[in-house]
Amino acid sequence: MTVKRILTAFALGAVLAAPALADDDPAVEQRQGQFKLYVHNFGLMGAMAQGRINYDAEAAQTAATNLYHITRHDQSRLWPEGTDSMSIDGTRAKPEIWDNLDDFVEKFGALQTAAEALQGVAGDGLPEMQAAFGAVGQSCQACHEAYREEAS
Ligand code: HEC
Repeated sequence: MTVKRILTAFALGAVLAAPALADDDPAVEQRQGQFKLYVHNFGLMGAMAQGRINYDAEAAQTAATNLYHITRHDQSRLWPEGTDSMSIDGTRAKPEIWDNLDDFVEKFGALQTAAEALQGVAGDGLPEMQAAFGAVGQSCQACHEAYREEAS
């Protein structure tokens, strides 16, 4: 790459990151997609935990392992500035996220810790899974209460 090309690439990168284009930012649908995959796995374990379906050790373990891995997905490009609910349509991410990034990351870390613990026991039996499941649910809820708009 010539120096000029490199500079052009940098300038383009800056434009793409600018809030003015955030309406089209694919990161919004992509981060929502990861949450849908959380529910895909969390929901199955929730149904078992609440007795709506029979506990199945293998299915529970698979779901917990999936959730563990999805919560390890790097978040650094999923939350660009200017993709909050005050700036663009199509997101429920409150602007407060970007004012309190440390706290947001901490709440994300709480989910990662809880998902790891659940992954360690989900296949060991219903009581074991239930005991670890609650902390995961609480970590989802704590972040949503602070940083997610109510569904309209
Ligand atoms: C650290 C914060 C945080 C944690 C932890 C978290 N969420 Fe969320 N969640 C959000 C935010 C912010 C949004 C809104 C994203 C948007 O609309 O851009 C969201 C959106 C969602 C959505 C809607 C996705 C869509 O289709 O628009 C679902 C479902 C969801 N979360 C489920 C979960 C579940 C289940 C967990 C726990 C296993 C969880 N979340 C943990 C912050 C979090």
